[in-house]
Amino acid sequence: MSQDIYLTGITTTGTPHIGNYVGAIRPAIEASKDASRKNYFFLANFHALAKAEDPDRINQSTLEISAAWMALGLDTDNAVFYRQSDIPEIPQLTWILTSMTAKGLMNRAHSYKAMVQANEESGSKDPDKGINMALYSYPILMAADILMFKSTKVPVGRDQKQHVEMTRDIAQRFNHHFGKLFTIPEAVISDDTAVLQGLDGRKMSKSYDNTIPLFADEKRLRKLIMKIKTNSLEPGEPKETADSTLFQIYKAFATASETAAIEKRYADGIAWGEMKQELFEYINEHIKPARAQYQRLMDDPAIVEQELLKGAEKAREISVPFLNEIRNAVGIRRLG
Ligand code: TRP
Repeated sequence: MSQDIYLTGITTTGTPHIGNYVGAIRPAIEASKDASRKNYFFLANFHALAKAEDPDRINQSTLEISAAWMALGLDTDNAVFYRQSDIPEIPQLTWILTSMTAKGLMNRAHSYKAMVQANEESGSKDPDKGINMALYSYPILMAADILMFKSTKVPVGRDQKQHVEMTRDIAQRFNHHFGKLFTIPEAVISDDTAVLQGLDGRKMSKSYDNTIPLFADEKRLRKLIMKIKTNSLEPGEPKETADSTLFQIYKAFATASETAAIEKRYADGIAWGEMKQELFEYINEHIKPARAQYQRLMDDPAIVEQELLKGAEKAREISVPFLNEIRNAVGIRRLG
């Protein structure tokens, strides 16, 4: 059995929050230290374009996400860490794949269908209102990302699973017509990594505006934690951990024995204000060293830029020759 190749992309549309950290960044950084694994992690800034974000916001997000991953100890010697737009072979492969992907396949994408449905429900005359072609063919760009590096495993959130399945379809169809060039990847959905709740108790997400930025300064971190929704139980009254956002976040950071100790304090009736203080102190201590490093990188983006360019160079050792093979297979060839 040959070595598994893991690849995952992060769309550069937001500021990293503690939900991203627990759900995606922390496991990826752990994996980057595992010498038996080949890892590709990249900033999906072409995907961000599809979402029609503000240009400065896309750029800022690219810096923030890169600096966050680096500050948290990503091992860039063992993992290839790059920016999608630094790999010109990716948009080329996207076009090649676009040419052999059935429109009907894209019609079935959940993300596209959800947008059409929202338009219909809002009574709009145009079901495709606000949907650009990049959003529509988003899964093909993602297929190019994945197939370019012969990935076997693609760690993604549940909402992205269908896109990986589409990648498999696209790759199989290509292989059938042009020779077996592509590796068929598999989505890795980890059910054991926590999906954190946000300030209002719903899933922590940029779209709900209920996040706690991973590197908020101490004052802001404290303020946000104080805003987390609780119930009206008084100090001294026993409290449930099961529906407590404070507990859930604490648990995602703390060790098993620390978590057990907090469970006991819930049973003993810890006051919500006290629990908020505990949570603040815990996260603050945990994040402090990385926050200082993050700040240094944010103040000197050239260091981040250099790291990404180094990553792109490594990535292109694979993508340049592989794209040549692919071009050759589809009839884009030198004439003599
Ligand atoms: N679409 C993914 C998301 O929004 C990000 C992404 C882009 C990605 N290309 C990828 C993930 C390739 C895995 C593999 O989360």
